[in-house]
Amino acid sequence: MKILAAIGALAVVFAVVAAVFFCGGFYSVAGTAEEPAIVKWALNQVRTASIVRHAHDQPPPGFDDPAKVQAGAREFDEHGCVNCHGAPGVKWAKFSEGLHPDPPDLKDVVPEVTPSQLFWVIKNGINMTGMPGFGAAGATDEDIWAIVAFLKKLPSVSEADYKAWTAPLPAPAAKP
Ligand code: HEC
Repeated sequence: MKILAAIGALAVVFAVVAAVFFCGGFYSVAGTAEEPAIVKWALNQVRTASIVRHAHDQPPPGFDDPAKVQAGAREFDEHGCVNCHGAPGVKWAKFSEGLHPDPPDLKDVVPEVTPSQLFWVIKNGINMTGMPGFGAAGATDEDIWAIVAFLKKLPSVSEADYKAWTAPLPAPAAKP
């Protein structure tokens, strides 16, 4: 009985300390605050497991045709991904260095990730990080599958390819 009472008392003390710490503003939400290694590890595990469990959509047939890969490069550029992640021959915007966690260099990441998982992340974003959900930001599923096709090829896309694929389209010919 005494042991149970002691455990109960400890739980109450713990709850009070936690309430004061978090509600009293002692926890820092600064983007520059480094979390302990164990928290970082746990967040990574939770993120990966969540993406693996939620990613169900299968790529439509022919989603990675060369024309789609090129269209995906344009979508990647136009939806602003390049500002945070960079692209072949294009450096990310300076502000992205202030994001915590850091936006990864996607060419290092994509070999490990399936098309379904890429689609899910791009469509839904990653909560409480800088990664936006592009479904809510106006990208159609077709746009997102094109981006996935481009990303899966990213490690072999040259700077010249990326430049050519994202070059401004010629203006429509003037009507006679
Ligand atoms: C405002 C900055 C920002 C923009 C814009 C942005 N991202 Fe991200 N992205 C991030 C951050 C930050 C992460 C890392 C999240 C994390 O560590 O959990 C991320 C993660 C990702 C990942 C997951 C990588 C992994 O480790 O599995 C993919 C894929 C991705 N972004 C693709 C894109 C694409 C495609 C676009 C454009 C449609 C885009 N991002 C636009 C900031 C951004």
